[in-house]
Amino acid sequence: MSKNWYNELDKNSIPKHIAVIMDGNGRWARERNKLRMEGHKEGSKTLKKVTDAAIRCGIKYMTVYAFSTENWSRPEKEVSYLMNLLRQGLDKYRKDAMDSDIKISVIGDISRLDDDLKKKIANVVKATQHHRTFNLVIAINYGSRDEIVRAVKKVSQDIKEGSLMVDEIDEHVMDKHLDTKDFPDPDLLIRTSGEQRLSNYLLWQLAYAEFYFTETKWPDFDAEELYKAIYYYQTRDRRFGAI
Ligand code: FPP
Repeated sequence: MSKNWYNELDKNSIPKHIAVIMDGNGRWARERNKLRMEGHKEGSKTLKKVTDAAIRCGIKYMTVYAFSTENWSRPEKEVSYLMNLLRQGLDKYRKDAMDSDIKISVIGDISRLDDDLKKKIANVVKATQHHRTFNLVIAINYGSRDEIVRAVKKVSQDIKEGSLMVDEIDEHVMDKHLDTKDFPDPDLLIRTSGEQRLSNYLLWQLAYAEFYFTETKWPDFDAEELYKAIYYYQTRDRRFGAI
């Protein structure tokens, strides 16, 4: 019988924030002679299940990589499929978010998205802004280097306008100019499908996070896999650079 990972967890040291790279949708589909798009569709269902599982065990923030700045270079058909999946996903999530007190936020440069999608994002962010039970942060057209460049521009603008002095720039000031300014740093990064790279994801914010990699492809990831990752996190000794 497989282990019940949920029961193994120390409920007093659940990570507050997990970051997830939902990788392997394409390979999951190929293994089943399906189109890549079907992998993404299944992956979207997995996200819903994993969100429910995260809420159940007491995680407060989950940041997921839905579309990277590099993903624009995929075939046009796949890009537009992913954009449509986001549209549908946001509609579905809006309902769940209203029922379950979930706050939805988006990080990334959304200026490049279609107007209707931008509007959908603005609406769902506004409608859920006072929710407190769980924070789902969706990274769309997100790239960490792009985020840092945009933050540097904002800092420079503050200096130009006289509201900030060069000597006042420190890590806290940088934090407050990043897209993630409202969230604590992730404690745990999970990447599925066997790849062990950061792929330009939250480079600044993951400075002290634990990393968990699994061979499981994202559409096959589930609640128990999430609890297993947290169990593994709880076995790590986080020292933040101290001894
Ligand atoms: C990576 O798999 C996955 C993506 C680029 C897309 C992830 C998006 C979703 C799961 C939908 C999210 C929906 C909402 C509403 C947030 P891949 O295509 O790189 O897989 P491969 O490496 O096997 O080719």
